[in-house]
Amino acid sequence: MAEFQAALKLAELPPGSMRSCVIDGREIVVCHTREGVFALDNICTHAHARLCEGRLRATRLVCPLHGASFDIRDGRVLGPPAVVPMPTHAVRIVDGTVEVALDVRPA
Ligand code: FES
Repeated sequence: MAEFQAALKLAELPPGSMRSCVIDGREIVVCHTREGVFALDNICTHAHARLCEGRLRATRLVCPLHGASFDIRDGRVLGPPAVVPMPTHAVRIVDGTVEVALDVRPA
């Protein structure tokens, strides 16, 4: 089972914002929304673009390169051209620190 690891301080992540970080060599984007904090892989499943450079609208994350959109809660595709969902990761907040447990299932 994946272990939770510190990603960043919640204070560094105002509501409506997102930040990238690297955990075990894997690029993750952490998003703070009204519905909570969510983490997913940072590299789009369509091509090589960083989702942290895209736009976050509530729980919809729009890729900066070709405009695919994903639901950050479960990674599902909301809009083309991507067809493969984004891997998502478990998040918890401990003493003001956002911790992420990587989903290490093979894609
Ligand atoms: S790289 Fe994200 S939509 Fe193409």
